[in-house]
Amino acid sequence: MMMQHLLLVFLLLHGAAAAGNHPAYDLFYKEHKLDPAKFVLTASEMVFFDYISSPEIGFLKSLNGKLGKAKTKLIFRFLDADAVEPSTNQTYSSILKNLATIKSFASGILVPKSYIWPVNKDEYLDPSTTLVTDAHNLGLEVYASNFANDQPASYNYSFDPTVEYLQFIDNPNFSVDACLAHNKDNAAAKKNRPLIITRNGASGVFAGCTDLAYQQAVKDGADIIDCSVQMSKDGVAFCLDSADLMSDTTAMDSFMSRSALVPEIQKNNGIFSFDLTWSEIESLKPVLANPLSSANLLRNPAAKNMGKLMTLAKFLDFAKNSTVSGILINIENAPYLASKKGLDIVTAVSSALINASYDKQITQKVLIQSDDTSVLSMFKNNSSYNRVFKVDETISDAPKPAVDEIKQFADAVNIAKTSLIASSNSFLTSFTPVMDEMHAANLSIYVFGLRNEFVSIPFDCFSDPMVEIATYAAGLAVDGIVTEFPATASAYFRSPCSDVEANLPFSILPVEPGSLLKEAQPELLPPAQAPAPALDAADIVDPPLPPVLVGLKEVSKSSVEEAKNAKGGRDH
Ligand SMILES: *[C@@H]1O[C@H](CO)[C@@H](O)[C@H](O)[C@H]1NC(C)=O
Ligand SMILES: *[C@@H]1O[C@H](CO)[C@@H](O)[C@H](O)[C@H]1NC(C)=O
Ligand SMILES: *[C@@H]1O[C@H](CO)[C@@H](O)[C@H](O)[C@H]1NC(C)=O
Ligand SMILES: *[C@@H]1O[C@H](CO)[C@@H](O)[C@H](O)[C@H]1NC(C)=O
Ligand SMILES: *[C@@H]1O[C@H](CO)[C@@H](O)[C@H](O)[C@H]1NC(C)=O
Ligand SMILES: *[C@@H]1O[C@H](CO)[C@@H](O)[C@H](O)[C@H]1NC(C)=O
Ligand SMILES: *[C@@H]1O[C@H](CO)[C@@H](O)[C@H](O)[C@H]1NC(C)=O
Ligand SMILES: *[C@@H]1O[C@H](CO)[C@@H](O)[C@H](O)[C@H]1NC(C)=O
Repeated sequence: MMMQHLLLVFLLLHGAAAAGNHPAYDLFYKEHKLDPAKFVLTASEMVFFDYISSPEIGFLKSLNGKLGKAKTKLIFRFLDADAVEPSTNQTYSSILKNLATIKSFASGILVPKSYIWPVNKDEYLDPSTTLVTDAHNLGLEVYASNFANDQPASYNYSFDPTVEYLQFIDNPNFSVDACLAHNKDNAAAKKNRPLIITRNGASGVFAGCTDLAYQQAVKDGADIIDCSVQMSKDGVAFCLDSADLMSDTTAMDSFMSRSALVPEIQKNNGIFSFDLTWSEIESLKPVLANPLSSANLLRNPAAKNMGKLMTLAKFLDFAKNSTVSGILINIENAPYLASKKGLDIVTAVSSALINASYDKQITQKVLIQSDDTSVLSMFKNNSSYNRVFKVDETISDAPKPAVDEIKQFADAVNIAKTSLIASSNSFLTSFTPVMDEMHAANLSIYVFGLRNEFVSIPFDCFSDPMVEIATYAAGLAVDGIVTEFPATASAYFRSPCSDVEANLPFSILPVEPGSLLKEAQPELLPPAQAPAPALDAADIVDPPLPPVLVGLKEVSKSSVEEAKNAKGGRDH
């Protein structure tokens, strides 16, 4: 086990080094009639250098012993394994095999991070090398380089740069960073912190709504796990992000012939769960969604088709027996399912909850979420449930009449991150009034849309998902963070540094929207995007749910008429 030897690993933020005539080479400067050694020796009479690093042995040897009594540390920097060190004509990989010789002219080595934790061709981490142990045994200090928040690293880190740093330094015997290391067993540090609510379980790591995604979510410290309920043709309620099976399962391989256009649900053709039986759906493999594949960022490809889809009943059994403090049940498309498919999703959910005794327990919170007020009103009399209204579209304002309407149907809203902080071209511009307007009515606010992939994070947050979480949690005091990566939110809340009031030297601070944009040269920016509309009170309330179509087999004139009268679909 090498971990105890990592005590002396430090992290340097350092650009990637290319092979060839590297500007870090003394020889490069000599060719240009410059002498870095002379410069360093002259300068060292006036300034003290803590460290001097070079990828060139000859250069370090030329300084060795000449820096007087000053305690300047000479560090030999390794470049790419195949690159050739110019003063010995050996590759860096062959020099690595002979670490003992380095000790004669340097007190430490600086290596690309992959020298310590190699990444294989599939971009997963292999077991660590013995480099740190070997170097420490020789008395050499070890520094690692090439860290960057906005470069894809190994899939093992789930796009969270902090996880990568900790891979190098989190050790119970060594505290380089009391913020994020050693908090594995902490309960969340801050009192009254926002809830960590999953989106399709830990769907950043495993295919959404699978047994594996939910197990991972519990392991990663989620407070609330969620099931977006879909219905099979034979009336089985199960969990999946969308009624369309095309993107979240392998349905296209075997059920392309069932694809259909259902404008009430979506613009494009789909293979819909309500057209397949549960045993057909159960036979499909799940597919791990890659919402940022356009930026070439894929999630955990090795687990692409792993896991099993779960019925709502199984999900409830699992949740009940787990350590989570609650569940969120999302219900969509209820009018269409009732009037066109004869499927009663509201009754399916409420009877599953009753069957699992969720209607008479107080240990776990039950959140019923819908974008349809008629669905929420069906749960009004059941005091064990909290109701959450989902606002899918980005808004810039929530005037009082609209908020008052929502308050009739819900205790909380689930709202896009861009509705709380306006942004333009990936710069945060300003806080919107929406947070204060909703809180004034005592509505809890859950925010969705936070992800780990750096391309989804505003520039203001420096490609660090925790800084974005801090901005919503500490900057805005939202009541819940809806996330596909509960591990990241949980690591943040377990850290003492998530408590900005604790006044620690390393608190993770929220960013101030607009402050980075001020620094940008206006002529270099694309035109600002048009502001989002305000929430309209007239759009909140949906028509009552239509009756559930019976006798589907005979699609008769009367049922078509019934469906028509029932006003299936939504008009906002
Ligand atoms: C911590 O240090 C002790 C004593 O050196 C050692 O026995 C132990 O293995 C170390 N723990 C880890 C996790 O490295
Ligand atoms: C390194 O190799 C180059 C070309 O192969 C040669 O010109 C040079 O003299 C060699 N240098 C040393 C130090 O061996
Ligand atoms: C990285 O993830 C892969 C796939 O989950 C796993 O097999 C491997 O052990 C992990 N590597 C490390 C160093 O944890
Ligand atoms: C309930 O949880 C325990 C501990 O996590 C586990 O051992 C057990 O198998 C679970 N039971 C069911 C029915 O899932
Ligand atoms: C609400 O609770 C009552 C009493 O337990 C139950 O009969 C009813 O079905 C529930 N409604 C919903 C929508 O859960
Ligand atoms: C009712 O609950 C039992 C026990 O938890 C479970 O086995 C069964 O599948 C549930 N049935 C339905 C229809 O949810
Ligand atoms: C809720 O309770 C009220 C009063 O008892 C009743 O009039 C109403 O129909 C109930 N609503 C639902 C959806 O059960
Ligand atoms: C919000 O809740 C507080 C405390 O429970 C209460 O005093 C206040 O009147 C409520 N405000 C509204 C608008 O419901």
